[in-house]
Amino acid sequence: MAETAQSFKIPESLSLEGRVALVTGGSRGIGRAIALLLAERGADVAVNYTANESAAREVCDAIAGLGRRAIAVRCDVSDADSVEAAVKRVVEQLGSLALLVNNAGISIDSLCARAREEDWQRTIDVNLKGAFLCTKAASRQLLKARRHGRVINVSSVIGEMGNAGQAMYASSKAGLLGLTRSLAREFAPRGVTVNAITPGFIETDMTDAGLHGDARDRLLQQIPLARIGGPDDVAEAAAFLAADAGGYITGHALRVNGGLLI
Ligand SMILES: NC(=O)c1ccc[n+]([C@@H]2O[C@H](COP(=O)([O-])OP(=O)(O)OC[C@H]3O[C@@H](n4cnc5c(N)ncnc54)[C@H](OP(=O)(O)O)[C@@H]3O)[C@@H](O)[C@H]2O)c1
Repeated sequence: MAETAQSFKIPESLSLEGRVALVTGGSRGIGRAIALLLAERGADVAVNYTANESAAREVCDAIAGLGRRAIAVRCDVSDADSVEAAVKRVVEQLGSLALLVNNAGISIDSLCARAREEDWQRTIDVNLKGAFLCTKAASRQLLKARRHGRVINVSSVIGEMGNAGQAMYASSKAGLLGLTRSLAREFAPRGVTVNAITPGFIETDMTDAGLHGDARDRLLQQIPLARIGGPDDVAEAAAFLAADAGGYITGHALRVNGGLLI
């Protein structure tokens, strides 16, 4: 991929040259793919993680190999003080922050009757409050970036269609769509766009347990494009929304689901 980035000139409308991005949950899965593609398109990237430092460092090394600056930033997105400190560090070390990808997320699956209240709280705190806190902490920098300012929230098809056993997760992801639409209106006067991506089933650590054998076959029957998505499918959508090419799109939820929900 690095070879492609060097030998192929990125069109101006897709270039992220000179922009600084923070990708929450950038250490693994979808966030990792987004961090790497943003760097390929020219961005310097802060890779957030909460536990897996070695994975975050590996992503940073790969970004450095592309000739971009990268820092690994530990912070739990559900903790306001930790988020404030992380954003401050990004700005101190990388100079600005124009592009925020709220990707960090967890999924605790349980039928409603058996669900524990603390699991409800943790899911909402990480998936929904985390995006709010990160956007709030970064807002001054994002607004300063004017027409280059971007917030991209990684929601889910489950937030749009619901799923038995995923009421907590679905609620957090549907809430993220409301947050996206409100912030899109709030930030638009300064030229900053706020969008969501709603991925379908994507092969990552999060889905690993549910994507084998019969369950996989049943799922594939529901997906018109007849394949499980990969992290790069989501990253391409994020990189497009981040670039000037996506600059007239705001308040939108972009489906990357292989046709699972049309
Ligand atoms: N996979 C799918 O099918 C799918 C579909 C739709 C939407 N999504 C959404 O896409 C996003 C990424 O999912 P994924 O499948 O790539 O998940 P994943 O492989 O489990 O990775 C989760 C990432 O989030 C980070 N994270 C978790 N809790 C955090 C916290 N409190 N503070 C900061 N970072 C935290 C993890 O950091 P550590 O490495 O430090 O643990 C990791 O980088 C999530 O929001 C998920 O809901 C996924």
